Amino acid sequence: MLLEATAVVMEFGSFRAVNGASLTVTEGDIVGLIGPNGAGKSTFFNCVAGDLTPTSGTIRFKGHDVTRATPEQHARLGMARSFQVPVTFEDMSVAENVMVGAFLRHGHRNAARRVADEILAFCGLDTLANARAGSLGTPGRKRLEIARALATEPQLLLLDEALAGLTPAEVRLAIDLVRKIQQRGITIVIVEHIMEVILSLTEHAVVFHQGKVIAEGPPRQVVDDPGVIAAYLGGSMKRVRTQIS
Ligand SMILES: Nc1ncnc2c1ncn2[C@@H]1O[C@H](COP(=O)(O)OP(=O)(O)OP(=O)(O)O)[C@@H](O)[C@H]1O
Ligand SMILES: [Mg+2]
Repeated sequence: MLLEATAVVMEFGSFRAVNGASLTVTEGDIVGLIGPNGAGKSTFFNCVAGDLTPTSGTIRFKGHDVTRATPEQHARLGMARSFQVPVTFEDMSVAENVMVGAFLRHGHRNAARRVADEILAFCGLDTLANARAGSLGTPGRKRLEIARALATEPQLLLLDEALAGLTPAEVRLAIDLVRKIQQRGITIVIVEHIMEVILSLTEHAVVFHQGKVIAEGPPRQVVDDPGVIAAYLGGSMKRVRTQIS
C-alpha cells in the first residue's frame, strides 16, 4: 500500500472539516475524490500532504508514519500536490517556477534546469519556458502547477481541481496529460468536480460528504448510489448529474 490514511479528523475550533475519513491507495492507481463543495476534500489533502496536522488519525506513506511530518518531509519521501488555488511566483519565469520544485532533489542550478526543461516539455509548456508566470492564462497556470509538483520527482501526486476552469477542449488535453503522468509510473489521487474527468481517468472513486467517505467503488456505480445522490442535492439525479458534470 502506497498511502494509508486512517480515521483522519481535522477540527477548526469546534467544526470538524474532516470527520474520520480513511483512504488507501495502491501503487499505480488513479483514485478520484469527489464530493460537494465544502465536503472536506481539500482539507483532507492538506492533512495527507502535511500542510495541516490532523487532530487525530494516522497517515502512512510508503510504510512511514507521516502524520506529523512537514510538507518538505512528505516531498522528500515522494509525495507532491497541486493546490486548488495555484501557488505561482508571478514575477519569475515559467521555467524558474518549475526549478523551485526541482531544487528539492538537485542542489545545483544546472541540474535543476535540466529537470525543469524535461518536465516543461512533458507538460507541453516548453514554448512558454521564458514567459513570466504571471502572464499565463488559466490552462497555462494549471499546467505549471502540475509541472512544479512533477519536478519534485514524486511517486504519489495529489491533484486538487487541477483541471477546474478549463474549456472542454482544454480538459481533454489535460486528461491526456494526467494519463501520461500515470504512464510515467506515478500514482495519482485527483479531486475533481468534472465527472468526465473522473469517469475517463479513474477506476476507483471515493465520495466525501461532511468530512466522511460515504461511498467508494467504480465511478459509474458511485454516482448512482442513493446516499451520494442525496449528498449532492436532495435526491434529484438530474441535479446531481448537472452539479458533477
Ligand atoms: N482553515 C480553515 N478554518 C476554518 N474552516 C475551514 C478552514 N479550511 C476549510 N474550512 C472549512 O472546512 C470545510 C471543508 O472545506 P474544504 O475546502 O476542505 O472543502 P472541499 O471539499 O475542498 O470544497 P470545494 O469543492 O469547494 O473545494 C468547509 O466548510 C470550509 O469552510
Ligand atoms: Mg477544495
